[in-house]
Amino acid sequence: MTTPFKQRLFIGEGNFSFTEAFIEKHPSTANSIIATDLTIQNNPQTHDRINTLRKEKVQIYSNVNATLIDKGFPNQRFSRIYWNCPHDGSNYKNQTLPPIIQDFFQSCRKAQKPNDQVLITLIQPEEKNVDSNKKDLYQGYVYNIVQAASLAGYRILKKRNFSQERYPGYQHTQTRRPEEASITKQGLRQFVFEKIDNEIFCEALQKTINQELPNLQQAIEPFNEKEILQKLNTRGIKIITPSLAKTLTRSSQKECKIKTDMYYGTKRQSFDCSTDYDSSDEEDLRFTKNR
Ligand SMILES: C[S@@+](CC[C@H](N)C(=O)[O-])C[C@H]1O[C@@H](n2cnc3c(N)ncnc32)[C@H](O)[C@@H]1O
Repeated sequence: MTTPFKQRLFIGEGNFSFTEAFIEKHPSTANSIIATDLTIQNNPQTHDRINTLRKEKVQIYSNVNATLIDKGFPNQRFSRIYWNCPHDGSNYKNQTLPPIIQDFFQSCRKAQKPNDQVLITLIQPEEKNVDSNKKDLYQGYVYNIVQAASLAGYRILKKRNFSQERYPGYQHTQTRRPEEASITKQGLRQFVFEKIDNEIFCEALQKTINQELPNLQQAIEPFNEKEILQKLNTRGIKIITPSLAKTLTRSSQKECKIKTDMYYGTKRQSFDCSTDYDSSDEEDLRFTKNR
């Protein structure tokens, strides 16, 4: 189906209230949206909402795994992929989320072209956590989004406010349960990532390896980013993240710094950038001439 609007994929939609709010705001985009979850909540309100959305021509699917987007939708390109408040229902301390987010970015990479975007919404921490050493609920940091995005060839563009003011009717729910989930006083932020052109990503990877792992440079002999990443993976090398992320963020729309802290005994990076309160999506709805 051809539409002048960018194809949007919504992952892990929970009660589908974000989908509803999005098309309420931008009605003409409905038939360019695919809204999904791994398991659709079994409750009357969500089912009613899904029925209404289907009538509005939104495609809705269950069984869509964030880590297998390219397999679920082979040969399909999504200009924008959203996942609001990713969570698999486990305790943060189990750290099941970082590998899920890493695999999510890798699968987005296969379903997107350069300049396409991934938009992840995360809860902001309470002030007391920001100031303490623990930062238990600083999700950008707990989920390790810096590593996941950088190793998949995405750079952060900006961080935006995400609220009911921007999407009236959106209600954040718990995983597999219709109950409303609590949000901190600081609210939610949407991290906007952009897929980098393969050649530029490959250059950044090579540069980082040359700087950080001069001894491995010869052994790796990088040819393309797939080969480099495979070789790095088999060696279990993750230490390139901070400097790779720094190189990639240099061209962000906002000044975003990479901060490193300890989380449960391991070093973690987070993006340190100001929030953009401009909430308009209007300019981002349609394809432009070159894309
Ligand atoms: C905390 S809920 C958030 C729901 C909704 N997006 C929101 O903002 O309120 C997390 C959602 O992620 C989904 N999820 C967890 N793991 C997933 C995976 N591997 N693939 C796709 N969705 C997943 C859950 O089913 C759940 O709907």
